[in-house]
Amino acid sequence: SGGYKFVVVANRLAVDAAEDGGWKRSPGGLVTAVHPIVRRLGGAWVGWTGGPGEAPEPFEFDGMRLHPVGLSEDEVDRYYEGQSNATVWPLFHDAVEQPVHHREWREAYETVNRRFADATAAVAAEGATVWVHDYQLMLVPGMLREQRPDLRIGFFLHIPFPPVELFMQLPRRADILRGLLGADLVGFQRPLAAQNFLQLSRILLGLEPKEESVEFGGRTVVARAFPISIDVDEIEREAADPEVQAQARHLRQELGDRRLLLGVDRLDYTKGIEQRLKAYRELLAEGTVSNDDVVLVQVATPSRMRVQQYQDLRERVEREVGRINGEFGEVGRAPVHYLFQSRSRAELVAMYLAADVMVVTPLRDGMNLVAKEYVAARVDDDGTMVLSEFTGAAAELDASFLVNPHDVEDLKRGLCAALAATPEDRSTRMRAMRATVKDHTVDRWAREFLDALGGAS
Ligand code: UDP
Ligand code: G6P
Repeated sequence: SGGYKFVVVANRLAVDAAEDGGWKRSPGGLVTAVHPIVRRLGGAWVGWTGGPGEAPEPFEFDGMRLHPVGLSEDEVDRYYEGQSNATVWPLFHDAVEQPVHHREWREAYETVNRRFADATAAVAAEGATVWVHDYQLMLVPGMLREQRPDLRIGFFLHIPFPPVELFMQLPRRADILRGLLGADLVGFQRPLAAQNFLQLSRILLGLEPKEESVEFGGRTVVARAFPISIDVDEIEREAADPEVQAQARHLRQELGDRRLLLGVDRLDYTKGIEQRLKAYRELLAEGTVSNDDVVLVQVATPSRMRVQQYQDLRERVEREVGRINGEFGEVGRAPVHYLFQSRSRAELVAMYLAADVMVVTPLRDGMNLVAKEYVAARVDDDGTMVLSEFTGAAAELDASFLVNPHDVEDLKRGLCAALAATPEDRSTRMRAMRATVKDHTVDRWAREFLDALGGAS
């Protein structure tokens, strides 16, 4: 029979339908990490094109075979914006925003997960390896196994897996857990997440988990951490490009040769952008830093803008930026440059190269690839980073200036320490971080996951 020996399943395809009728790179860390893997291994990618409507026919893109799944307007509302991004996303990020619960959202989540499972079953060859990704598709492994017990099924969660007490708030929580247990291997960013998952299987389903696995339905389900990473070679290549380097120099000149604090995030309440702005405003107000000496550039990429919590966040962030610029700015010299825009990878690398301090302060983040990209880009062994302890990246990048973003004083301390670091200290720290990132590439992540799954690699 036909079909693919390797199938990746994710809510989004590597590309989104663009307004001009073409395709553009999809947003977010999942696509950043998974794209180079699928490009290299071949196989099919089942996912959504980012807008409502009928699914287009399968097509070829950048050497990948893309199989679109269609979502109606209602399903975009209920499955994507609702259940995925107003229920599960906040709940799995420590409920830093209140999760919202609606029965119709949950039903749409199930309907759409069923559609993804069916689409996958239709393209997977006998005995194929299927790799399902992220919180939008947690029912898919179970649904797929019912139809296709011949498949090797892996699941990777890109976001944190919450502590048991929080997961227990989720309506129909046992269905979600059984959905995940349909996989042979469930991968997480951090060991603690795998522990939470195994503990949950005991509490919710009365199973008897071992250290890294649990028996379910007569099978062994392995649960382990596989910290995700980036394509280091690609970032280093960008950083070595003379045009990118010229762009970095130009940016510094434009900013009046002030020391550059840089933030790059989707505009998401998990990213701690408000906390970062508050700390910066207090430093300016106290005179610890001055607008003559320091400038903050914040790229805040539009994301999930039809979800109420994201609209509210945008209002708050833009008000705070206006307040800081109003109070501490001069004509032709603003303390905050706020870009509510999506930037290309080359543009981001130029910014990384120009930065003195990379400011990464999520309240909670599964990994945070921006932090790793910054380190990979600093082929000059210079630049410092302020990094939240509440990111997966903090476990590997502990030569950064680690902070607790919930504590404004601690954030201010971290920012000051990063600004004050001597050239020797900066280079020692950056070399340590670069060694870690170069050793743990996204290729290695995929290889380790697929080896553990026992499938194609
Ligand atoms: N990114 C981008 N353009 C932007 C902002 C972000 O290409 O304007 C990319 C960034 O380079 C990184 C990814 O989006 O590869 C963000 O991943 P991360 O893990 O930091 O956060 P996520 O958005 O997945 O929560
Ligand atoms: C995070 C999630 C991904 C998601 C991305 C962008 O990285 O883990 O699953 O694709 O954000 O968000 P979006 O809602 O635009 O797909």
